[in-house]
Amino acid sequence: MSKYHVNEKGYYGPFGGAYVPEMLYPNVEELQQKYLAIMEEDSFKAEFNELLRDYVGRPSPLYYAKRLSEKYKTNVFLKREDLNHTGAHKINNTIGQILLAERLGKKRIIAETGAGQHGVATATVCALKGLECVVYMGEIDIQRQAPNVARMKMMGATVVAAQSGSKTLKDATNEALRDWINNPVDTHYIIGSVVGPHPYPDLVARFQSIISEETRKQLNEKTGKELPDYVLACVGGGSNAAGMFYHFLDEPSVQLIAVEAAGHGVDSGESAATTALGHEGVLHGSRSILMQTPDGQVIEPYSISAGLDYPGIGPQHAWLYKSGRGTYVSITDNEAMEAGLQLTRLEGIIPAIESSHALAQLEKMAFQPEDNVVVCLSGRGDKDLDNYMKYFGF
Ligand SMILES: Cc1ncc(COP(=O)(O)O)c(C=O)c1O
Repeated sequence: MSKYHVNEKGYYGPFGGAYVPEMLYPNVEELQQKYLAIMEEDSFKAEFNELLRDYVGRPSPLYYAKRLSEKYKTNVFLKREDLNHTGAHKINNTIGQILLAERLGKKRIIAETGAGQHGVATATVCALKGLECVVYMGEIDIQRQAPNVARMKMMGATVVAAQSGSKTLKDATNEALRDWINNPVDTHYIIGSVVGPHPYPDLVARFQSIISEETRKQLNEKTGKELPDYVLACVGGGSNAAGMFYHFLDEPSVQLIAVEAAGHGVDSGESAATTALGHEGVLHGSRSILMQTPDGQVIEPYSISAGLDYPGIGPQHAWLYKSGRGTYVSITDNEAMEAGLQLTRLEGIIPAIESSHALAQLEKMAFQPEDNVVVCLSGRGDKDLDNYMKYFGF
């Protein structure tokens, strides 16, 4: 096994583990003991692959963005996770986890959400399977991602507002963990990113690894080469990036670029640039890097993008950063919004503001004309239209 994957103790280098209250031990332990065996079952694989194909619409295309490539004088490909059912990569993971929950005999599903994409993807698979669904979402995010709140409700989910802290993703995750502690027997918590106690970071990365699995094959079909020179992805907790990196981790010629949200600027006091500002510590059940005060209080993050507005990153990312295998950078609100508009005008694709952060990084890099650069277009911008309109004054 690669040194960039989780070890048998649940760690990535010094990061990871399962730091949970005693009440949650049985749940987390059950998952740890069963997830790999369940994912290996033929019937699980068959159902997962069938749903990815016929329900999600996979494989998602690898699109050669001609005008964007001309602009950056290189070859830019977009991995079109925005074309998935429900509009983002999040559905890859929720399909996997709902099948896991079924096999664990769970009847009730809970989730946290920031941009609402994971909440929608969870509400969707619960409707598909006829399971009860409760989604925790920060009050601020409920306001800035209103279309997704409506979609969740239409699917039959209960959306509960998280009112503490910055009223965003971190606070929603706290509420979801609290719910799980109170309902340990019948409930499965579908975490939406590569965060949380072991085995979540690994199991979410495995479900998202379809992104790089397909990319290798599709790039080979298009260019005769399986390995791109660069892959770029935005990082909130880090699940689309983990999926985009997965099958390239042990290919040193592939540069892995992870893009965090700098908000109003890394030094502005209003940022979510975790690797630039953070230190090692424990958040939401795992040891990683997080933004915290010298005495260990979590610093409230800020980003215009609800999905990147998180003070930590998953433990695998902390390890990729610390080991130097990945390059971690950050992009401000303004840079992301401009990149989102640019993609719209050059390619006729409106990206999610999260994905716009990854696109904005292209501007900062020097490519060779023959390079193959893959950007994970993690989601579509429908949910962000209001924000784009307000920002640009349309
Ligand atoms: C479209 C989109 N991209 C990216 C993210 C960030 O999540 P992650 O870092 O887990 O991919 C989100 C989160 O909601 C999202 O909706």
